[in-house]
Amino acid sequence: MDRIRICGSKSLKGKIQISGAKNSALPLITATLLTDQAVVLENVPALADIVSMSELLMQFGTKVEADLSHNRIQLQTTTATSLVAPYDIVRKMRASILVLGPLVARYGQAKVSLPGGCAIGTRPVDIHLDGLRQLGAEIELSEGYIIAKAPKGLTGADITMPVISVTGTENLLMAATLAKGTTRLINAAREPEIIDLANCLVSMGAKIQGAGSDTITIDGVSSLKGTTYRVIADRIETGTFAIAAAITGGDLLLKNSSLDLIPSVSAQLQRAGVLLDQVGTDIHVRAPNGIHGVDVMTEPFPGFATDLQAQMMALMTVCHGASMITETIFENRFMHVPELCRMGANITIHGSSALIRGVSQLRGAPVMATDLRASVSLVLAGLAAEGETIVHRVYHLDRGYERIEEKLNACGAVIERLAD
Ligand code: EPZ
Repeated sequence: MDRIRICGSKSLKGKIQISGAKNSALPLITATLLTDQAVVLENVPALADIVSMSELLMQFGTKVEADLSHNRIQLQTTTATSLVAPYDIVRKMRASILVLGPLVARYGQAKVSLPGGCAIGTRPVDIHLDGLRQLGAEIELSEGYIIAKAPKGLTGADITMPVISVTGTENLLMAATLAKGTTRLINAAREPEIIDLANCLVSMGAKIQGAGSDTITIDGVSSLKGTTYRVIADRIETGTFAIAAAITGGDLLLKNSSLDLIPSVSAQLQRAGVLLDQVGTDIHVRAPNGIHGVDVMTEPFPGFATDLQAQMMALMTVCHGASMITETIFENRFMHVPELCRMGANITIHGSSALIRGVSQLRGAPVMATDLRASVSLVLAGLAAEGETIVHRVYHLDRGYERIEEKLNACGAVIERLAD
């Protein structure tokens, strides 16, 4: 397994191009199942998960023309040759659950492996399944698979989701576009990726109102058409590189992104002493006067993103003072803590909260990545640490960050990949 080697204590200075959002591109790819026409997606990040999702759709008979070196992919499902999403693919990528809604909506049936849990939590899908039942689908669980049937098609309904779920909202939003009548998704997720998906579906002929609010109304249509759509910037990558500037005392220009994508994260970073300015379509980030501790609680959008919790914790390990970080979304998202402590951080966990007492300097060490966002928090800590850090199991990193070594090296970091 590849490792990443970092020689730390280098201030980052320069420009970083922000890639398209992984967590928008993935549902957009599954949305192409809703039409028999070709859909072209632009600004798609060249990531392992994008390749995995494309391969999954090819199992259904989708024709995929991927040109990821130019961040472009064309998909067309004229007819489905299979409606099964197998366990060996779904277990590696939870977002595969997003094929369920489109397949049931367009073909009236689907057999999708239950995704199972992952490192950060049990990750149930009850909201997805209960919502599809309310749209008229028969859902059966058998031998680890979800078997969904809607031979007469789906029928619009008012669906109140008991927990705010990003992919739950996305699955039901996609399914509702072809349901008979009107659907209201109540207590819907408000993430920018939801708005991006709705905008793409509308460009395909769907009738959707309220995306980005807690209630989304969909008037079903009989069919959808092809489109060309550009994926929004990745807000998690934006926040990650903003923290990279702050933790190294550097000065970065993040190209083609917006502070509107990270309202609470930028507010907290500003409170901690980071200067962030929107300059046209770019974000200028620097932290000339050091970092002081702030208390953070993760929440659904527009709250502080759970996917930036580990990265913020890395920054707080070298703050002046102390910080309390509380994780409210997932039950096991502190696996980066023992690894950061190996680098000299002073962190104690109290249930779903971590108390971080700032130290003057981290020290490089061999550390282990455990999940996508924890792995990048270790890279951030390595950039700030004195000496050499080796991050093991970086395949986690490749799932969410396009060319991260290249982007960081271009700004003065000393980071290289060591192939095993
Ligand atoms: C999406 O996951 C993202 N993944 C995650 O990003 C992100 O951390 C998460 O939203 C929260 O923002 C993609 O978009 C592909 P949820 P998702 O359903 O949709 C509970 C990354 O690093 N829940 O919003 O799976 C669940 O247990 C990944 O890029 C149910 O109880 O998350 C959690 O406590 C990690 N029943 C809460 O809701 C359900 O049916 C929020 O989960 C679904 C979810």
